[in-house]
This record gives sequence, structure tokens and C-alpha cells, in this order.
Amino acid sequence: MLPDTLSRPAAITVDEYRARREALMANLPEGAVMIVPGGALKTRSNDSEYPFRQQSDFYYLTGILEPDALLLLLPGRDSGQSVVFCQDRDATLEAWTGRRLGASGVLAEHGVDQAFENAERETRLPGLLEGRTRLYLPLGEPEAMAIAEDALADAQAGRRRGKPALEAWFDSRELIHAQRLIKSPAELALLRHACRISARAHRRAMRACTPGLFEYQLQAELEHEFVWQGGSGPAYSTIVGGGANACVLHYIENSAVLEENALVLIDAGAEFDLYAGDITRTFPVAGRFNEAQRALYDVVLGAQERAVAAIAPGATLADIHAGVVEDLTRGLIELGLLSGDVQARIDDDSYRRFYLHSTSHWLGLDVHDVGTYRLDEQTPRPLAPGMVVTVEPGLYIPEDDDIPAAYRGIGLRIEDNVAVTATGGEVLTSEVPKQVEEIEALMVNK
Ligand code: GLY
Ligand code: MN
Ligand code: MN
Repeated sequence: MLPDTLSRPAAITVDEYRARREALMANLPEGAVMIVPGGALKTRSNDSEYPFRQQSDFYYLTGILEPDALLLLLPGRDSGQSVVFCQDRDATLEAWTGRRLGASGVLAEHGVDQAFENAERETRLPGLLEGRTRLYLPLGEPEAMAIAEDALADAQAGRRRGKPALEAWFDSRELIHAQRLIKSPAELALLRHACRISARAHRRAMRACTPGLFEYQLQAELEHEFVWQGGSGPAYSTIVGGGANACVLHYIENSAVLEENALVLIDAGAEFDLYAGDITRTFPVAGRFNEAQRALYDVVLGAQERAVAAIAPGATLADIHAGVVEDLTRGLIELGLLSGDVQARIDDDSYRRFYLHSTSHWLGLDVHDVGTYRLDEQTPRPLAPGMVVTVEPGLYIPEDDDIPAAYRGIGLRIEDNVAVTATGGEVLTSEVPKQVEEIEALMVNK
């Protein structure tokens, strides 16, 4: 093995993909069909395309990485319940863009029951959907809607010949996303790996950082590590914000010079086998916090550590966020950025001048992973083993005249990724330092 290269975790097995499809079908009523379109290539400019990224739900249910595929789940169908349509084999196109699975490859490598190439789609789809009375599809998604419209027209025509009516359409996402919320051991291994790569990248950026570099040069350090370790690249647009750029939550220009006395906020994560890491660290460009930076950092770090420690089965992200808001508000009052009583400043929302995002989101195949946060409007979803969340409090101090000069334009966030275990939480991103002394030591002893 090359030096400094992490060994890769096992891929998800064909058996696991099959079990996922079966678990989903077990929740479908009689007469149902689920339509799950894969992703398509998108033009970047003229005749060049963006690198292909598979649609997450389709990938979760098949493991197939080719564009223009479609999965049908047909519970109860004797000749096969999982049917995939895939790209046509084409020797000329394959000479340009690489091997295509074709129907035989999909069958051999992905364990579905039947596969056809897209050339057969138009003739085969109506027969597969005939008699299915309940369609589950991603409502609003154009390809799935077109299939559903055709199925409706066919069913209406069939009624005259005594065929069953198409009774209802449902959004398929709720069922798929509820399943995706709980990660299997194999998925956790992939997420752990995406997080390890991301952590390495952050360490690399900390070591490389020095005044006078451009933000994009730290982005290059991070993204080099992502790809070096076998990731497909960033799981989302890398954020490198020096100084007040850190206060722009989705700052992705990364075009400014890193100033000697500023902090830099990096929010970056690798994608590995389509799973996302999502780490934020904030540290001094020159390796040493000044007093005001450190004071604010300690407030965010304290809130973040308490929130990470609270991750456990039965806890809720709503409660964890409330704890963060309380800690941050208390810190802001102690530093003179707010005044009065902690609860009063929470109740009148004045803390939101400095902290306006939420503390956590689900993490998985999508960086803001799918799944609902509430069981109903009143009830936050309790955490359960297998869920993976971020914990990412921050403070963003505007450059306004009423703010003490030492704090103006400081933006801070600390973000870790945590898997919920049977008894608490496993921090997946602990390899990247967040204690002041550890950061300073890493930056000074490069
Ligand atoms: N990187 C996006 C987020 O932290 O939510
Ligand atoms: Mn992030
Ligand atoms: Mn995040």
C-alpha cells in the first residue's frame, strides 16, 4: 500500500441491496408498484457534461452507477419483483465513454430479478404496469410523472375492457427515506471512511495554512486529499472563508487572500462511494488565536461539546439545538454582545442575530440526508441507533458599529459527524483537532 493511504472499506453487497428492496416492498399494499428513476447526465457547457452522480434513492436500492436507468418494484410478480431498465449496449459509444453494464451485466452484478435495455422500455413498460392499482413514485419528478401519466392513460383505456382502475398515486419518498434514515453496519463503515478522509483533508489544510495564501489554495489541499484517498471529490461545494467571509454561511467563492490576524472557516467533506463527510473547523490563519477569537471560540466549542455528548437514543435534535442556543446565548451575554437574561434573549430571538441556522441535520448518501425531523408537527423524532447526524453550532458576528471592535467580522463554526449507537454516539470525525491547544500544536509543528 502507498504511504498515507487509508484502506478501503467493503462495498455494500448485492444481498444487502436485495434486502433493502424486499424491506421496502414489504411496506407496500397489494396492487402497488414503485417507480424509482435513476439520474441522468447534465450538460455543463456545449457538449461536455458534469461528472455523473447517481440519484441517491436509486443507488440505495440498486448500487447501479450508470445514468438513464429505472427501477420498478412489483411486489407479488411471479416472473420477478425487481425490474431494471438500463442503458443500451453500444459498441461505438462504449469506445468513447466506457463499458456499459447492459441487461446481462445488471443481472449478473446487481442481483435484480429482471433487466432490460432502454430500447425495450416503451414496449415493455405498459405490460409491467398493467393491473397495478397504486403507483408509488417521486411526485413531481418529470420522468416518473411521465411514466405515471402513461400508466393512467393505459388504465383508463383498459377499463373499457374490464381491467382494474388505477386508484391512487403516492409519493414514494416517505417510505424510502424512512428506511434510509437508519444506516446498516456496511453503510456506517462507508460513512466512517468518508469522515476519515474528510478529517485527513482538514488536517492537511491546517498544516498548509499560512498568511498570504488564497482561500482556493486551501480548497486545493482539501480536495487533493479527497481524491488521493479514493473519494469522488467533495460531497458539496467546499467552503473556505477567511475573516468576515466566514459569516457568509454558504460562501463558496474561496477567492480572497488569508490575512495574518484572521481566522479561517473551512466546511468541507469528501464523498466516498456516494456517502458524505461534512466537517467544519475554524482556526487562526497564522496558528495562534488572539484573545477575542479565543473567547468566542470557547463559547462555540463548549456548546458543541455539550451537544455531541447529548447524542444518544431517545434524545431529540430539537432538544440538542435548544441546549446549543442556551449555551451560545449565555456566552454572548458574558462577552457583552447581548445583555440581560439568557431566557429573555432566547425568547425575543435576539440570539438569532449571531446564530441563525439549526444545529444538526441527517448525514448519509446526501449531505443533508433525507428523512423527516418530526413524527408530526408537535413531536420531534427521537434519535435511534443507526442514525447519523451532524453537530454544528456557530457564531457569526456582524461588522456593525454597535459590536465591540475586537469581535467584528468573526465567523466560527465547529462541525462533527456522529453516529447514534445503542448507548450514545460515535464521533466519526474525531481525527481532526478542535481543542485550541491541539490546533495550535498541529499548525506550529507542521
Ligand atoms: N456543509 C453543509 C452543512 O454543513 O450543512
Ligand atoms: Mn458542513
Ligand atoms: Mn452540515
